[in-house]
Amino acid sequence: MSKIFALVPAAGCGSRMGSELPKQYMLLAGHPMIYHALVTLCASPEIDTVFVVLSPDDAYWLSYDWSPLGDKLQPLFCGGATRAESVLNGLIAAELERDDWLLVHDAARPCLSHKQLARLIEALRDDDVGGILAVPVADTLKRADAECRIVQTEDREGVWQAQTPQMFRTGLLLQALQIAPNVTDDASAVESLGFHPKLVTSSSSNFKVTYPQDVELAELLLGVRK
Ligand code: CTP
Ligand code: MG
Repeated sequence: MSKIFALVPAAGCGSRMGSELPKQYMLLAGHPMIYHALVTLCASPEIDTVFVVLSPDDAYWLSYDWSPLGDKLQPLFCGGATRAESVLNGLIAAELERDDWLLVHDAARPCLSHKQLARLIEALRDDDVGGILAVPVADTLKRADAECRIVQTEDREGVWQAQTPQMFRTGLLLQALQIAPNVTDDASAVESLGFHPKLVTSSSSNFKVTYPQDVELAELLLGVRK
């Protein structure tokens, strides 16, 4: 049976967060942000190894004690200039079997729950293509001009917000990212090959910490879960 691995791209600099420390290392509920997602991934009995893709000149990873997370963690210092490049470099370095499953999860989504993760794996492990956690858009969508004036209201019917983990067979994802390197998520690369990844319903609690105002909500959620 194919194994399941996780890969966490963590080689970004968090420019929209505007902090000097790369955001994946910002202290959140007493730990570096990335710690929270790693705990959840390492605790999954289904996941074999959790690869962490870091910048080649990452100066922070080695200064933390990751031993409480067990022996599933494997850092790879091969991050690239974009998220897609970091995932591709990590995938190449990890040397997995083509049929193994890979769950790619942003270091910047610390609030992933055990339940959301288990639900994704359960929904996709027998799927032909793979898929992603996502939420149907609930708010009315506005198209804006350069002056932040509404140009028009967009139809939200059938529109979903993509989250991570995004779960694909290693061989398919490798091929997809080599052909479509300019994507902002893994599913887009797979879509560009003509496949239709599955949307597995998640909740907005698995949001990406992007701006300074996101930090408070993430700390609240993590605090409540303790
Ligand atoms: N990422 C990466 N390599 C890059 C860019 C991003 O591994 N060259 C990772 C980030 O560390 C993060 C995930 O991809 O875990 C999602 O990216 P994002 O939230 O956009 O983080 P940053 O790119 O760091 O932030 P920003 O876009 O604001 O600069
Ligand atoms: Mg980015």
